Amino acid sequence: MILRSLPFATLAVLFSLIFIGGYVSASGVGLSCPEWPLCPQGFLPHQDFIIEYIHRSVAATTGLLVIATMAFVLKSKETPRGMKIASIIAAGAVIGQIALGAVVIVERLHSVLVTAHLGLGLVLFSMVLMTVVYLFRMTAKTTIPAIRD
Ligand code: HEM
Repeated sequence: MILRSLPFATLAVLFSLIFIGGYVSASGVGLSCPEWPLCPQGFLPHQDFIIEYIHRSVAATTGLLVIATMAFVLKSKETPRGMKIASIIAAGAVIGQIALGAVVIVERLHSVLVTAHLGLGLVLFSMVLMTVVYLFRMTAKTTIPAIRD
């Protein structure tokens, strides 16, 4: 049951995170939290850095969701090999993306690193989307028996 909804939830949260990241970049508030991992007031949000605070909080949530999705996909005996591979790549990409986010801060928004952050975000999105497509195919096969490979 969790396997049927978790990848969709992960994709939705990740999609919102990419929007928030774009807003962080476009509005120039990327260094409003100049340290890593926490913002100046620790876990407490503040209006001076609220957008970057939200970006980091949603990134942490996304990381947990992507890793939980991988765990459920790997545990299930019904999931195809391609779905397992996509979810493993997604988990690797989310860990890399969070680490890269830290480097982006430490290196004060170096343009190459920010571009790599966008690129790896797209790889991550593609892998989570692929996991969802596999799930959709699995669900369609079990509910509509006429659908085959
Ligand atoms: C799953 C995790 C993450 C995803 C998918 C993600 C995605 C994105 C995206 C799509 C952008 C916009 C890039 C652009 O428009 O060129 C962005 C910007 C940014 N992200 Fe992330 N991000 C993640 C985690 C993090 C973390 C953990 C940090 C810092 C600790 C971080 C720091 C930043 C900063 C500072 C910017 C703005 C860069 C600038 O000002 O140009 N990100 N993120």
